[in-house]
Amino acid sequence: MALSFRDFSAEKACAEHLDSIDPLSRFRDRFELPRDASGNPVTYLVGNSLGPMPKAARALVMQELDAWGGMASEARFRGARPWYRYHEMFREPLARLVGAQPDEIVAMNGLTVNLHLLLASFWRPQGQRSRILMESGAFPSDTYAIESHVRVRSHDPATEVVKVSPQTGEACFTTSDFVDAIEREGDRLALVLVGGVNYFSGQVLDMAAITAAAHKVGALCGFDLAHAVGNVPMQLHDWNCDFAAWCSYKYLNAGSGSVAGCFVHSRHANDLQRPRLCGWWGSDPQERLRMLDAFVPALGADGWQVTNPPILSSAPLKASLDLFDEATLPMLRQKSKALTGYLEFMLRNAAPKGCSVITPVGSNERGCQLSIRIGGDARAASHALHDLGFWCDFREPDVVRASPTPFFNTFSEVHSFAHALASIVRTGS
Ligand SMILES: Cc1ncc(COP(=O)(O)O)c(C=O)c1O
Repeated sequence: MALSFRDFSAEKACAEHLDSIDPLSRFRDRFELPRDASGNPVTYLVGNSLGPMPKAARALVMQELDAWGGMASEARFRGARPWYRYHEMFREPLARLVGAQPDEIVAMNGLTVNLHLLLASFWRPQGQRSRILMESGAFPSDTYAIESHVRVRSHDPATEVVKVSPQTGEACFTTSDFVDAIEREGDRLALVLVGGVNYFSGQVLDMAAITAAAHKVGALCGFDLAHAVGNVPMQLHDWNCDFAAWCSYKYLNAGSGSVAGCFVHSRHANDLQRPRLCGWWGSDPQERLRMLDAFVPALGADGWQVTNPPILSSAPLKASLDLFDEATLPMLRQKSKALTGYLEFMLRNAAPKGCSVITPVGSNERGCQLSIRIGGDARAASHALHDLGFWCDFREPDVVRASPTPFFNTFSEVHSFAHALASIVRTGS
């Protein structure tokens, strides 16, 4: 469904028609969609924050509880999905989502923990090459992780952390904002670490160009892909990114705190000399139980594991990744562009003065999310939307983020949301 503004009209019938020709409409029923406190269905536009539960997750978690109950320690090595190698089943489907080779992927820990582990390996300050470049207004956990990591290693964030800002008055970055800053830092720069999709604006950065610019000055480059994975297609291997990390509870719909993911480019993943923080689970699975004193990392991204995988928070990820393999990312992306394009069209038609979309207009520069700057009281508008059954979220000082998601949202929902927002902003209630 490659659609453009020419295919849209503001009539409800248009939304209904688009729903009727949606090749992915059957997937909505594969999720348990939330209800409000009175049990009424809601329009769920916060899949960018916490994806809803794939129905298959319940059975997959139960299977592991049954494995625990029925086999306890032996569940590590027998049963349908032995725990010893449980995480390995995520390699290939995650590799398909981020454009990687399977051995460049590992599912482990949580996102911020993984950022610390990757910083330990890929921020290797040497002489004057010591700085880390990030974006201003990054998700706070990234700022905390980077600055605290720098402090723990006895450096000063005030001199070592460089923040790139958009041009004055702009909500979004240009690629040159990054490339120019990287060139300015030159051989003082050790690492670039930015969000591939900005959590606030929904902007997709040009990860290939930023990586190339970092490499040109001799720095490494990694990405926080919390808002990118399962949302936009990527080619991390071909783009030559050094590493990346993401969580699995947003567009990956694997549940709050579910096991996160990492990419380590094969040129590093197979470099056994690269320093890392170690634990027994990062050693070769054939050797691990020999309990050797000397740590020999497993080849591939698996060598960054520290601890044995959380099975109960990993099981829902299988439910989710099975759905991605069934629907396929290109099909999801095609519908996503149409759905978010339709939201933009409806907002232009229906939204009163004072509302503006800060997310880029080009469909390749954004994913599902539109960030809508609200004239007037944005927090009150967000609460009013919630009371009407439209769940989106509010970000200080004046932005409502709405993310129609191709797995489960409909064009009719987008239509109703745009009218509800327009009416709330117009009446100020
Ligand atoms: C861009 C980004 N980075 C980091 C985090 C922190 O994630 P976690 O709590 O899973 O470590 C989030 C959480 O929403 C996020 O959106």
